[in-house]
Formats: sequence, C-alpha cells, structure tokens
Amino acid sequence: MTLAAFGAIHLDTLAHAERAILRDTSTPARLTTRPGGVAANVARALARLSPPCALAGAVGRDSDGDALLASLRAEGIDVSTVHRSDHPTGRYLALHDPDGGLAAAVVDGAITDALRPGDIDIAHPALAEADLWFIEANLPQPVLGQIAAAAKHRLLAADAVSIAKAPRLAEVLDRLDILFCNRLEGAALLGQRRAGGPAPAPEDALAIASALVALGVGACLVSDGPAPLALATAGICMSLAVAPVAVRDVTGAGDALIAGTLAARARGWDIADAARAGLAAARVTVQAQGAAPATLTWDAVLGEHAAAAPPTA
Ligand SMILES: Nc1ncnc2c1ncn2[C@@H]1O[C@H](COP(=O)(O)OP(=O)(O)OP(=O)(O)O)[C@@H](O)[C@H]1O
Ligand SMILES: [Mg+2]
Repeated sequence: MTLAAFGAIHLDTLAHAERAILRDTSTPARLTTRPGGVAANVARALARLSPPCALAGAVGRDSDGDALLASLRAEGIDVSTVHRSDHPTGRYLALHDPDGGLAAAVVDGAITDALRPGDIDIAHPALAEADLWFIEANLPQPVLGQIAAAAKHRLLAADAVSIAKAPRLAEVLDRLDILFCNRLEGAALLGQRRAGGPAPAPEDALAIASALVALGVGACLVSDGPAPLALATAGICMSLAVAPVAVRDVTGAGDALIAGTLAARARGWDIADAARAGLAAARVTVQAQGAAPATLTWDAVLGEHAAAAPPTA
C-alpha cells in the first residue's frame, strides 16, 4: 500500500538560547533549520517507516522553497506535485530557553491558507496511485472538501492540528476512515458540530473519540500527551497506555503517532494494533531530538511494539 500526505510544508527555525530569553535585548543562541509542518513531518516519518510516500502542499518560488524540496527529496519523499506559490515559503520560528521550554513561537502559514482547490494536481499519478491519503487541518476547508470528495475507494486519514483549525474537518468527518486529534482538538471539533447540543467533557478522551465516531468517523484516536490514547470505532472503545519514557524532545510526537499508525495499517494491521505501532513510533521519537529522527525505523517500532504489547495467553 502506498501513501500520500497533503498539507503544510514549512521551514522551521529553532533557536536554543544560552541563557533565559529576555524581551528588548538579544540573547546568544544556536540556530538550526529543518523541514516542518504537519504533513511534511508525517511524510518524513512515513518515508522512514513505509516508503514510498508522496507529499502535496505548497512552497514559495524562493530559495527556502528550493532548499525544502531538495531536503525532502533527499529523504525519499516524492515532491513532484508540490505547488510553487507566489507567497513566501511557510516558516515557523521557535525560541527555546536553556531548559528546552518554549519562550515564544511564531508561524507564517499564509502560503497554505492561500491554497485553493485546483492548486494541487490530485490526478497526478504520484497522488492518484496512492491507496491511503492523509490530510490535515492546516489546509483550507474547500481544499479538504475537494480531497475528501476525490478520495473515493482510498483510505482517508486526517489530523486536527490545533484547537483553532480542528473545526475545519467538521464537514468531512463522515468520509474519514481514521481521525487523529488530541483531547482539546477533539472537544473543539465536537463543539463545532454540536453547537447548542450536549458535548462530552473535554477531559474525557474516550467519550470524545466515541462521539466523533457517532458523527461518522471510522476510527478515532484521541491522544493526550503522556496520558492514555483513546481509540474508538463502531465496535471498539479502548484506552491504550503510554509506557513511561525518558523524554528528550516531544517535537513530532503527534506526527510519529500518525505515521506509525498509518504505516501499520498500510501493512494490513488492524486498527488497535496499528494504534499500538503509532504509540511505539511516538515513543521512539520523544526519546530523540526533532521529528522523524534517524532512530525511527520499522524495526525500532516493532521492537517497542513487542516490548509494550500485553503478554499473550
Ligand atoms: N511527555 C510524553 N511522554 C511520553 N509520551 C508522550 C509525551 N508526549 C507525547 N507523547 C506521545 O506522543 C503521542 C502524541 O502526543 P500528544 O497528545 O502530545 O500529541 P499532540 O498534542 O497532537 O502534539 P503535536 O501534534 O504537537 O506533536 C502521545 O499519545 C504519546 O504516545
Ligand atoms: Mg498533533
């Protein structure tokens, strides 16, 4: 089974300051740049776990766009359908204090906000030949609708991205085979769909997952950082424990959960086992620096999955 991811492709700049960051003055820091954006990070992790993988979205006609595409291509991702836009390439800038805490972050995602149906050539073989499509709520609603309508026989998975953007998925819920969200994103999505109606408490991940399934989602995975992952389908409602781990960097944890789950589904695993593979991929990722680290391999996922699986009778 081959996969394609649609959504944000950013250039991330991360500053790690040598001392606590203050306003109104400059602080010495080490700056690094790397690819970012939910769809790009999921594609990077998928390219490690389940190649081949294609990525669709937009970058600018600028040197940042050239560099991003070259770097993604070098990671084995098919970027032949990435739209070159007149907007500057999307950028994310994060300022980290010496303890790793986030002092501030800003994002310029105007290029993805400006995408219109038609900018992405979904009939291109790199996308059309994929059996599993992943979309994320950085895409504008008309583009999400266009891709969902074109998905037809394919498996369609989606990520809710943020509290602010999650409601963009409201109109495509009944077409989604798999929905990934965290607890607060799930609550925001339900709030949108059920204006005025009863909604589960935002702290109840299992109730949120079940409520999203009742709205037409095939399988819903509601994550909550180190707290258990809720999984609901029409026939399953279960909580999967997150094994304790020495966390180095939570960047890309959610993206790894998605990539691990989808890579396992692409191998024919059932959804509960695939979710456990997602947790294994997230576990590998939080123990390393950055999204899609070199330690994220299918063998590593299998190793973590076997270690975390309940003993069989
Ligand atoms: N502190 C942590 N310790 C252990 N595992 C974690 C931690 N944070 C995240 N994870 C793992 O990553 C998965 C996804 O994390 P989380 O719920 O934070 O996603 P998210 O809110 O979508 O974050 P993002 O998309 O910004 O990465 C969790 O289900 C868990 O397996
Ligand atoms: Mg997330």
